[in-house]
Amino acid sequence: MKTFTNVKDLGDLKTAVAEALELKKNRYAYKKLGENRTLLMVFFNSSLRTRLSTQKAGMNLGMNTMVLDINQGAWKLETERGVIMDGDKTEHILEAIPVMGSYCDIIAVRSFAQFESKTFDYNETIINQFIQYSGKPVISMEAATGHPLQAFADLITIEEYKKREHPKVVLTWAPHPRALPQAVPNSFADFMNEADVEFVITHPEGYELDEKFVRGARVEYDQNKALENADFVYAKNWSAYADPNYGKILSKDHSWTVSSEKMALTNHAYFMHCLPVRRNMIVTDDVIESPQSLVIPEAANREISAQVVIKRILEHL
Ligand code: CP
Repeated sequence: MKTFTNVKDLGDLKTAVAEALELKKNRYAYKKLGENRTLLMVFFNSSLRTRLSTQKAGMNLGMNTMVLDINQGAWKLETERGVIMDGDKTEHILEAIPVMGSYCDIIAVRSFAQFESKTFDYNETIINQFIQYSGKPVISMEAATGHPLQAFADLITIEEYKKREHPKVVLTWAPHPRALPQAVPNSFADFMNEADVEFVITHPEGYELDEKFVRGARVEYDQNKALENADFVYAKNWSAYADPNYGKILSKDHSWTVSSEKMALTNHAYFMHCLPVRRNMIVTDDVIESPQSLVIPEAANREISAQVVIKRILEHL
């Protein structure tokens, strides 16, 4: 594996999940693999889970790890080529990236959608520049349109907790006060479409995701109907994808909040969310605190998903 930006980079998904579950039994088994190798983690945006779990994964594999917060202490970066740099941006990303690449063996990057241009975001301009100019393998720690480390951890969690083969997994939109990217639902859909699950997406009209990720999955606009007989309920907010509303909030309808009444419609489903979560917007206190809530095991599995990806890259350095 040279880069990790989407589900296809993992190859056969069953094999990848099996590898993850095996690694989880002894996460220090490959301590020698990363000896004298350096993982650089570059953050353009905030993080709790991704930062800690990816760093821990690198350390489990014996790597040295470095973290750079672009917006806290680094020079402000220009990302557009051809710009006359007479503003507040001191360094161009086209110099910064190869310099970063010269100090490490693997670069992991977090760079959210900016919502200034759908083309800029959906071309994955930032992470693709890292892939093109760093000279090093690149891992997405959430890019503009995807969060594959999260979706891989979600799939590992579903595999661990499922009570029947081919479980029903429902991705439901839920309200949020701010406009959020589509990265998490895009990747979740990408992974679920490859997994052995019955996958349903539910959201209010206007929140349709990019068909590149939905890939013909069932979309049900009636949330109650979608939740019927669900084994897993994956809640997430996202802003509109379709033009002319790209990046906009179209609804804050609290009837979409995942509550115990909503969960009662399911097959005693597990509740999932990638975190951080706005309580009583996305999910009520009682649901997230219930024994059916998997938000902590999911977050814990971020270490494992990152470790599989880093291990596979190290094996091919
Ligand atoms: N789920 C997730 O990526 O969390 P952080 O934004 O805290 O890294």
